Amino acid sequence: MAKNVTLSYEGKEIEFPLVEGTENEWGIDVKTLRAKTNLITLDPGFKNTGSCKSGITFLDGEKGILRYRGYDIEDLAANADFLEVAYLLIFGELPNAEQLDKFLVDIKEESFIDEDLKKILESFPSAAHPMGVLSSLTSALTAFNPNSVDVDSEEDMYKAIVRIMGKLPVLVAWVFRKKEGLPLKYGDYSLGYVENIARMMFRKPNKEYIANPVIDSALNKLLILHAEHEQNCSTSTVRIVGSSHAGLFASIAAGISALWGPLHGGANQAVVEMLEAIRQDGGDIKRYMEKAKDKSDPFRLMGFGHRVYKNFDPRARIIKKAANEVLTDLGLVDPVLDIAKKLEAEALSDPYFVDRKLYPNVDFYSGIIYRAMGISTETFTVMFALGRLPGWIAQWREMRKNKEPIGRPRQIYVGKNHREFLPLKSR
Ligand code: SDX
Repeated sequence: MAKNVTLSYEGKEIEFPLVEGTENEWGIDVKTLRAKTNLITLDPGFKNTGSCKSGITFLDGEKGILRYRGYDIEDLAANADFLEVAYLLIFGELPNAEQLDKFLVDIKEESFIDEDLKKILESFPSAAHPMGVLSSLTSALTAFNPNSVDVDSEEDMYKAIVRIMGKLPVLVAWVFRKKEGLPLKYGDYSLGYVENIARMMFRKPNKEYIANPVIDSALNKLLILHAEHEQNCSTSTVRIVGSSHAGLFASIAAGISALWGPLHGGANQAVVEMLEAIRQDGGDIKRYMEKAKDKSDPFRLMGFGHRVYKNFDPRARIIKKAANEVLTDLGLVDPVLDIAKKLEAEALSDPYFVDRKLYPNVDFYSGIIYRAMGISTETFTVMFALGRLPGWIAQWREMRKNKEPIGRPRQIYVGKNHREFLPLKSR
């Protein structure tokens, strides 16, 4: 493969180096483009633009491959514990028993919330959307942990990491419980990371909490599957906010807001709302398929399509299988699961979807499992954020360790040319 590309422009041949990744990906390094040509690139949505070199996640959208630090998502989802995947993403290697124990102990030491921050949560209206509440509270963590803003050393960075790994699960559980009208309680210090999240979320005030291994296992798998996904919208948000040297908590809070959108993580809520609407409308799949294809109709098949995957999202395959298992193990029947399967079958044989390579993505089946766990629809994306936390941390840490420059894209101006100011009496 050549080591550079040549741009012919205004009678000149200008060379730009090629950048090669470790998985046969290539990019044009355009760092000197404007200096050499006075041109910039223009790429709305960054569909053809890389923002960084990263060693965290590899995606092959054509083949439907997803690897965290070189490990296939299928292997991790089937064999790993979420906390060890978090450690892998953040620090680059799977931990040994001693490293994992220390990580968990350090996180547990931070698993509490300032009582005044709890008062802020209690002051939100119960109808408030949980993602707006979670983003606000995560940003507020900065006010209660001011020394976690300037992470200029590895030690500062580690302290900030275990702080948010410890505190976010408590905030997530309390945001969920506030919506359900349940008391805001802590978990059990003796439990593992995921088991404690389940206990904090699902324990009832009037009876002893009995852990359900089906729920714990499904939660562990879902958190792993949502943990990281390279330069998606919310992760790019976390990186660009962090590139101004804003603190980790403020950057994560911004990522939570970006994830909230229905085109991104908010799709898991939109999918179940869509499936419910189809069910209540008599289950007429074909009518909704036609709506999804009708350009004049704003309706889209939520949970379908992806910027990178032009094949099955490997996570969707795993979650679809897990949804069947969880419903069976819990002895539940959810009519929207059948509607989802019928929609998938219909779409995978419809030229509109086949031609555009639109497949189910991570959000298509996940809400069905969350619902089986007793999680309210508006809280689905909060669970996505909880899973994505280690990925956001890993990407933020990599950006800071690589001393990436502040993110500041250019533009092409298409507004008014110069004009003189007119005093009010002349307008
Ligand atoms: C996530 O980036 C990540 O990695 C994200 C994520 C992660 O882990 O972080 O994987 C999580 O956000 C998954 C995506 C969740 N969103 C949804 O399910 C919402 C529904 N999907 C679409 O809105 C859309 O597919 C996007 C937003 C996911 C991707 O949009 P793109 O890449 O900008 O693609 P596009 O909108 O340009 O669509 C290309 C064509 C268009 O038709 P044409 O103009 O070519 O005729 O496909 C059509 C679109 O209209 N299309 C759809 C569709 N998705 C795309 N048509 C109907 N239903 C859909 N869902």
